[in-house]
Amino acid sequence: MTFHEMWADLAPIGRHADSGGYRRYAWTGADADCRAWFRAQAEARGLAYETDRNGNQWAWLGDPLAGDAVVTGSHLDSVPDGGAFDGPLGVVSSFAALDELRARGVEFTRPLAITNFGDEEGARFGLACVGSRLAAGQLTKEKAYALRDADGISLPEAMAAAGYDPEAIGADPERLARIGAFVELHVEQGRALDLSGDAVGVASSIWPHGRWRYDFAGEANHAGTTRIADRRDPMLPYAETVLAARREAELAGAVATFGKIAVEPNGVNAIPSLVRGWLDARAADEVTLDQVIGGVRQAALAHAERHGVELAVTRESFTPVVEFQHALRDELTRILGEKTPVLGTGAGHDAGILSASVPTAMLFVRNPTGISHSPAEHAAEDDCTAGVLALADVLEGLACR
Ligand code: GLV
Ligand code: MN
Ligand code: MN
Repeated sequence: MTFHEMWADLAPIGRHADSGGYRRYAWTGADADCRAWFRAQAEARGLAYETDRNGNQWAWLGDPLAGDAVVTGSHLDSVPDGGAFDGPLGVVSSFAALDELRARGVEFTRPLAITNFGDEEGARFGLACVGSRLAAGQLTKEKAYALRDADGISLPEAMAAAGYDPEAIGADPERLARIGAFVELHVEQGRALDLSGDAVGVASSIWPHGRWRYDFAGEANHAGTTRIADRRDPMLPYAETVLAARREAELAGAVATFGKIAVEPNGVNAIPSLVRGWLDARAADEVTLDQVIGGVRQAALAHAERHGVELAVTRESFTPVVEFQHALRDELTRILGEKTPVLGTGAGHDAGILSASVPTAMLFVRNPTGISHSPAEHAAEDDCTAGVLALADVLEGLACR
């Protein structure tokens, strides 16, 4: 299959008819269809297919046990109503780059693998990069077992229902030790390449980022009969905290977003008993991020107290700053040309998680609007082709003669 045929084949899976966005959540039917698609692509190319103990998918050319493998790939899951490119562009481009290398008639000197890392977005269980975090030992089995989705289904239950063995999950140092280099191609989630006029760039770093859960607990009561003075309405400090997050982020040159909220009992004519909001915050460095997080928390505590509301703040995840390995990054720019732009990003990636264990690099493909995590996410056809050729050049430079 060509890039276009693969793209068209994958396109309907998990696409929501009304929004046009993707709902490919971990261990659901749409995820299973994406996984079947990956396996079919691997087998159609005669690659050795396997899933690892954490449910990540691998397609091998050459001996998986030989070591010093060059691995490329990304993820196929999505955020709620995500775009078509975040994740799939990297996986589809990996298969297309392998086809390109075979057409070039190169001889592989190192094993090559294509991967699909599971549950990158964390849309279902709230924690991003579960597959790579488990493999890298950055998420313990015990903590993974405690993850639950909005319906109360635990991660091991969901894995088992999808036909995977949750007993097996955990750190996978032997597998990671076989990787000599991991290169993830990804659609850019900003406009740096659009502004510089380049189709492809190389990643320098990922901002430190994390997710914090804010539980504002008040008192449920009648929306029509409860005097204003008698209310303990958690929506009010929540709303003020959203504004505080925006203010703190602006002051620090960072970003902070409340993008998900749960309200109990969630009735139009009831004062809420609980408002739960999730804060996603990111900054160029950890000192700045700490400052933003501290500022939001202080403001939230003050607002909660003023409204007679209890507040509990829980850090659900944190990913420190990632500086991609300079030697591999320089190798990529040498292969692609010294003028290739090198750019940082505020988005998290499996490559960032793996960078603590293996030499890792990323390629970004231009996104003309910068929009991502939305159905409007896009990359032009010519730029996708440029991405495939750049990835093929990189893989050839690293793994071929
Ligand atoms: C993943 O895309 C993230 O940056 O949250
Ligand atoms: Mn994403
Ligand atoms: Mn992604």
